[in-house]
Order: sequence, then C-alpha cells, then structure tokens
Amino acid sequence: VRRTLIDPLARLRERAAAREAATLRRRLRPRAAADPVLDLAGNDYLGLAQDARVVDAAVDALRTWGAGSTGSRLVTGSTTLHAALEHALAAHCEAEGALVFSSGYLANLGVITSLAGPGDVIVSDAHNHASIVDACRLSRADVVVVPHRDTDVVADVLERSEGRNAVVVTDAIFSVDGDAAPVAELHAVARQHGALLVVDEAHAIGVVGPRGEGLTAALGLAHETDIVRTVTLSKALGSQGGAVLGAREVIEHLVDAARTFIFDTALAPSAVGAAHAAVGLLADGTRSLAVRARAAEIADLVGAPRPAAAVVPVHVGDAAEAMHAADRFAQHGVRVACFRPPTVPDGVSRLRLTARADLTDADIARVADAVRASL
Ligand SMILES: Cc1ncc(COP(=O)(O)O)c(C=O)c1O
Repeated sequence: VRRTLIDPLARLRERAAAREAATLRRRLRPRAAADPVLDLAGNDYLGLAQDARVVDAAVDALRTWGAGSTGSRLVTGSTTLHAALEHALAAHCEAEGALVFSSGYLANLGVITSLAGPGDVIVSDAHNHASIVDACRLSRADVVVVPHRDTDVVADVLERSEGRNAVVVTDAIFSVDGDAAPVAELHAVARQHGALLVVDEAHAIGVVGPRGEGLTAALGLAHETDIVRTVTLSKALGSQGGAVLGAREVIEHLVDAARTFIFDTALAPSAVGAAHAAVGLLADGTRSLAVRARAAEIADLVGAPRPAAAVVPVHVGDAAEAMHAADRFAQHGVRVACFRPPTVPDGVSRLRLTARADLTDADIARVADAVRASL
C-alpha cells in the first residue's frame, strides 16, 4: 500500500508563518567582538565580563584545570576552585553555604524541584522569571500563581494550605520591569505559616546593597534559615553559571536531591575562575554604587520611576511598535532589549534599558540623543 508521506516539518512551517504574520519571529543577531554599538541590552551590569582581572582569572583557571570540568559535581567535577568560589559567594552574601550550578536557570530548577513535590504547594509571583515557571511545572506540586507583589494573596493561599509543605518563590528584582519584591513582607508571611521562601537574586547580586550582596542581605535577612537564595554568575559577575545560597542543611539536601546538580556536568573551570575574581571585585562597593547611579540617570531620560536596580523599563504596548522603537534606538547606535509575546502578555510589549557601571558621561549623552529620536 502506498501512503502519502507527511512532511514532519510542515507543521513547524505553518507555525512559523503564523508568528511571522503576528510580527513575532525572533532572529539571532551575532555581534562582532569589536562592537561600535552602545549596549543597554546585556546584563553585564558592572562591566566585569571584559575586566582584565576577571579575564586573567578565567585564563589561569583554564591553564590549571583544563577546558572542561571532566564530570558531574559528585564524580570528578568538584575542584578546589569550585569550593573556593562557593566559599567566596557565601561569605560575600552572608550565607551559611553556597552551591554552584551550571546556570542560574538550573539552580532554580534544582532548588524548587527538590524543595517541593507532588502534594506540596508552591506560591509563585505572576511576574517570576521563566526558569521559576518551568521549575514549578517540573516539581509537580500544586502551583498557585499570585498577582504581582501581592502579599495578602500569598497569606490567603498559605492560610488555605495549612498543614501542607509550602514554598513561596519570587524574583528579588523582576527581570522585565526591574521592580523589587516585598521580600521582608513575604518572609514574615512565609514564617507565620511555616513555609520556605525562595528568592531569585539574579538581577540583585552585584547591584543591590552597599557591596552588591543582594536584596535579601541588604534587608538584613541573610541569616534567616527559612530563606533560600538563587543567583546567577552570568549577569553582574560577568561570567557564566549559577548558585544557591542558604543554610548548611539546605545545601546538603540539594547535593542529595537536586537533579540539575547531580546529573549535569560541573561548571567549566574558566567560568568558575572568572566568577571568583568578580566576587572579589565587589568588596569596595564602587561598581554597585555606579550602576545604580547610571540606572537612575537613564530612568530620568525615559521618564521611568527610580529603578530598584539596573533594569529600566519603557512601556510601549503594541509588539510591532516596540520592535520599531528598538530599531530606532539601534539606528542611533544604542542597543536596547525588546520584550514581546510570549515573553510578556499581549498588549504590554516594552523595551528594557539596562545600566552598566562602566558607562561614561559621553555614553549617557548618546543615550539621551537616542531616547529623543526613538520614543
Ligand atoms: C530572574 C532570573 N532568574 C534566572 C535567570 C537565569 O540565569 P542564567 O542565565 O544564569 O541561566 C535569569 C536570566 O537569565 C533571570 O533573569
């Protein structure tokens, strides 16, 4: 019997055409090493990705330990370099312990899936990062998504979940709008109901607090054993990777239970070395102060409220209009990020400008020109 063969890619083509019609196609734009464009789209908040001391530390680690870490953390992948980074991160962020993962994404997956499972409850802010959303789904716990920054609803959900293992999870600084979570209030509510609070400090480490120790530590809550923090090493620290900060018992639990820790090759030595050097450079607090000052200047230029960290949002609305505005910025030599569906809901597309500690006054003048011409 001859059957007509179905082209397995035909459905993908249909879906691509639908996205094209809705101006939702995404395209990779590889940048050159020598890039004349002023970058306000990246996450190199402190300008450390190109800092000679950070790069040299990566090269030293590469020469000493090799290009790869050779195995998962529980087999051959844990080096004294990983241990030293964990020690430095814990000390800087005032945590009892730290555990390095291969990315912030995997740190979130690992923490959330090992703290909550079937039959448990996770309370998650509606604006949480995609890695938290995915972690909640993967946990198979009952996930309740609560309105953005609404502590009263969190309290209601926990009240109704009395007697069940519950975890509350929030970004410290929300990745699209750059606003801060009510961490102290969430902690009080979580504590009242015996729930753990997980705070993702991806956009706060290196930026928030006198030495960039993050929001939780800046609020004086670093020593609370019922708060677990996650960080990325790939934004303000200029490297790659992620980590969890928390009480020793939490860290030990993750070593036994976090699948993204156990079944993943350890972070490459060069990234570990770079991140370690970057943590050392946070100590005097000058870069954290500088990035917050530059973020405030950029917010003034676009008429946004004073930012909590380095992220400055510009609300546009229509997805196509947001793309055109981002293109106008690019024509004026400034790269900004554009968020549109499915990253954000329909009708609330926006631009995001991120400050960096190494922006000069001339750079800010260039941003001012681009803002006048583009918005
Ligand atoms: C809030 C937040 N959490 C986690 C991540 C993931 O971190 P990584 O890029 O290290 O995987 C990101 C961004 O990438 C983020 O914005």
